[in-house]
Amino acid sequence: MTTAIVFWSGTGNTEAMAKGIEAGLKEKGAAAALFTVSEVDAGILDQYEKFAFGCPSMGAEELEESEFEPFFAAIENKLAGKKVALFGSYGWGDGEWMRTWQDRTKAAGANVYGEGFIQQEAPDDAACKEFGAAFAEF
Ligand SMILES: Cc1cc2nc3c(=O)[nH]c(=O)nc-3n(C[C@H](O)[C@H](O)[C@H](O)COP(=O)(O)O)c2cc1C
Repeated sequence: MTTAIVFWSGTGNTEAMAKGIEAGLKEKGAAAALFTVSEVDAGILDQYEKFAFGCPSMGAEELEESEFEPFFAAIENKLAGKKVALFGSYGWGDGEWMRTWQDRTKAAGANVYGEGFIQQEAPDDAACKEFGAAFAEF
């Protein structure tokens, strides 16, 4: 089953996480397709059954408001039954945005993998690969 990885990243930290997760999935022989959120629309939900969505903590513990939040709002009614992992980078907070996002994704009926995977600022590459490899088994 191919995993679609869809992310937004302003300064590259969440992008680095996305690439590490992709590498971890591929290490386990799982197929993965990487997209920035600007490259896709809600139609991508009709093409894949397994997703990793990435967005850093922006605003005040929120999803990025101009691209990622509108995308996520548009797919929320298509998430039921999909396998989903959430990830993203943060700065000074305590991960509140991810807890909110996990709850929201579960409420939409998705089959959500584990805890949201968060990394402070620049991610640890090995941890990202490990997360991707573990998600490959989900
Ligand atoms: C406008 C703005 C708002 C932010 N708000 C938060 C926040 O509420 N909580 C937090 O922990 N970090 C916050 N950050 C820090 C980013 O989440 C952090 O720098 C992250 O690594 C950025 O990821 P990226 O490189 O993928 O864009 C904010 C950064 C910016 C630029």
